[in-house]
Amino acid sequence: IYGANRKNSKGVNLMINSQLEPLLESIHAWDNHQWKGQPLLGTSLAADPQLKQAIVSPFDKNQQVGEIQWTSPEQAKAALDVAHQAFPDWNAVPVAERAALLRKIGDTLEDHLAELMALCAREAGKQLADGVAEIREAVDFCRYYANQAEKLFGETTVLPGPTGESNELYLTGKGVFVAISPWNFPVAIFLGQVLAAAVSGNTVLAKPAEQTSLVACRCMELIYEAGMPRDVIQLLPGLGKDIGPVLTADPRVTGVAFTGSTETAQVINRSLAARENAPLAALVAETGGQNAMIVDSTALPEQVVADVVESSFTSAGQRCSALRVLFLQEDIADRVLEILSGAMQALQLGDPRDPATDVGPVIDATARKNLEAHVEKFRQQGRILAETQVPKALQEQGEFVAPVTIKLESLDELEREQFGPILHVIRYKSTELDSVIDSINRSGYGLTFGIQSRNESFAAYIDSKMRVGNVYVNRNMIGAVVGVQPFGGMGLSGTGPKAGGPHYLLRFASERTRTINT
Ligand code: NAD
Ligand code: ALA
Repeated sequence: IYGANRKNSKGVNLMINSQLEPLLESIHAWDNHQWKGQPLLGTSLAADPQLKQAIVSPFDKNQQVGEIQWTSPEQAKAALDVAHQAFPDWNAVPVAERAALLRKIGDTLEDHLAELMALCAREAGKQLADGVAEIREAVDFCRYYANQAEKLFGETTVLPGPTGESNELYLTGKGVFVAISPWNFPVAIFLGQVLAAAVSGNTVLAKPAEQTSLVACRCMELIYEAGMPRDVIQLLPGLGKDIGPVLTADPRVTGVAFTGSTETAQVINRSLAARENAPLAALVAETGGQNAMIVDSTALPEQVVADVVESSFTSAGQRCSALRVLFLQEDIADRVLEILSGAMQALQLGDPRDPATDVGPVIDATARKNLEAHVEKFRQQGRILAETQVPKALQEQGEFVAPVTIKLESLDELEREQFGPILHVIRYKSTELDSVIDSINRSGYGLTFGIQSRNESFAAYIDSKMRVGNVYVNRNMIGAVVGVQPFGGMGLSGTGPKAGGPHYLLRFASERTRTINT
């Protein structure tokens, strides 16, 4: 897709036994492994032995995955010193060398597919298909950003000027970037942010989500193995509320790349703005969504249901892109709901490493309890349209939430993003279309949006009205591919960067003009 011999990672086809079986065998070889994670810093300052935590698996609370050593505030400050000092030399490394390093990292990740998938399954509850997609996306980011960096940073734009004067414009790194990532894409988003910042000439302090720090540590070890200098990217595992403010309040930080909830992005924004005598930092924020799909009466019910199930329940609904609110035109609503209810009964919950599993666990007990409370509120009001059950054996074992469909009267009934396998359904009359569109835009979120209709002008009309980053017509709404569907939202969903798109690296760069009197 990127051009001759620069293709997206091919991944593994899980439908073909000759590919699935060897992969499963390699993944299960890691079943009893205990991973150890720790801060990976360019300073030898010792860790605080009190700050250690065992990590257990979300699909089996009795299964320990490993142990993590958190970063102390003193270590974070020392890491900032290192990053600040290392910036000029790293920024001066020719972009071709930085890009070559990213390509090597991509190849290294591909070579460790089974271990990284095993760790994603045990630490984050990622199913096989999600695990393949996760590593594949990370590899794609490496190759795509390597190509983009060479293109953007390797070229100087010569500008016109009077005789005796030369003018040129070029890109350069900004300085020290802090990269803060979520748990739901613990390899792809984690590495996408960190490597985009580094290939653009910045030094980076990476703060992974606490729930997925072990896989972040393992990725960093692989990055160092591939040749990344230890002072260019440092890893600071830690609790966001403790270590985050130490990083974002420091005046040496010139940018923050953040993916996570809208609320945390707002906290970080305030922290950056409150700094005195500090650079006006760049905030590259990719946040949550209240993603909707509008279905009109010309849509094909079977296709609608297949796309809805995929969009709402894949990854146990734990994707920022996931469908949360389905608007069904009343003429088609009963038929769609009938087929949807049947399709939901076929969804199998279970061990994410089992190829038969459709829905794995949610990330932790807090997430499960919040989702259950939301469902319970609507259950009390008799608003459950369809649901599946968590098998008895899994109820005690892990953090499982059964896929469910809830009836709403209007979007205003939803206060916040419900980050799990919960779909809300609203019926509308054709005369209410403009007020439906208005209600979606009024929510302030603008990440993904779906349209299902066989009427092209109807689809084009809705598309033209929506304030969102990614629109999907007559297909599912998840799984944006690097270089194909640049991904990211607007409004409450982010500051507008498009991960995996041709302009993403510009967010990590400063533009410089040079004028020489010749
Ligand atoms: P979160 O906001 O709870 O945490 C994200 C990161 O922020 C974590 O590393 C956390 O430790 C850190 N953090 C927490 N408090 C902090 C603080 N005060 N200062 C600095 N860092 C702090 O989000 P999450 O639960 O990990 O992820 C789920 C959210 O991410 C959902 O809202 C989802 O929609 C969103 N998301 C968005 C995208 C996108 O591309 N738009 C992609 C994936 C996930
Ligand atoms: N980029 C991810 C998706 O499209 C979040 O599902």
